[in-house]
Amino acid sequence: MLVDSHCHIDTARFNADREAIIQAAFEGGVTRIIDPGCDLASSEHALKLAKAHPGIIFAGVGTHPHDATTHTEEVGARYREMAMEPEVMAIGEFGLDYFRMLSPRDVQRAVFVAHLELARECKLPCIIHVRDSHDDVIELLRAHGQGLRGVFHCFSGDAAQAEECLAFEGFMLSFAGPLTRQGNALPEVARMAPLERVLVETDSPYLVPQPLRAKRNEPLFVKYVAEKLAEIRSMTLEEIARITTANALSLFGLGEPAR
Ligand code: NI
Repeated sequence: MLVDSHCHIDTARFNADREAIIQAAFEGGVTRIIDPGCDLASSEHALKLAKAHPGIIFAGVGTHPHDATTHTEEVGARYREMAMEPEVMAIGEFGLDYFRMLSPRDVQRAVFVAHLELARECKLPCIIHVRDSHDDVIELLRAHGQGLRGVFHCFSGDAAQAEECLAFEGFMLSFAGPLTRQGNALPEVARMAPLERVLVETDSPYLVPQPLRAKRNEPLFVKYVAEKLAEIRSMTLEEIARITTANALSLFGLGEPAR
């Protein structure tokens, strides 16, 4: 049994076969999916899907750094309302992305802090996106994130950066498809990370794990990430599944499976 702790099952790329993909994941042992919103519309869609799949899909509400210019006080107020719904388990995804820089840096930073405040107010964990922005994320978390919980989703840094992230006691690292690829520091990070602070995810429809040739990632494929993690830690897939599932349940406060 696995949890896909980050899967954009609401996106249009699943419009043609969404129910079949959810069913395939469930039958393959991926019994819970967290769907983080990227803007108001996708957060609303994620919540709608969570309501339609109780105990299986859970929603996050938030504005992705790419869309930071769409985040207004009204949007924040709407997230606050949505966070009262029992299916909303997180604030996110939000963060800083200086690789694509689709929103100006100052806007991204302000929207980042607004989400930290929202997470504090709603007592929900944060789903944080970091790309070429590690130092700023750490700086803003130190200033505004004390006592918060959450996850550095699709962690892509090195061991030293992982140490800085793990210094925030309520936070976990989540591994995605890049763990299965060559030429990055992730195996080293996966070896040193405390097991009780590790999650697995797909970030579907992006980041297809190797050696799959699929063009689109899907929640069922989280097992390839978990298999790689098991290999790196010299553990069985069952052990890694049990541990990462327990971590996800505890971080997001997910209940028992619906079926
Ligand atoms: Ni994402």
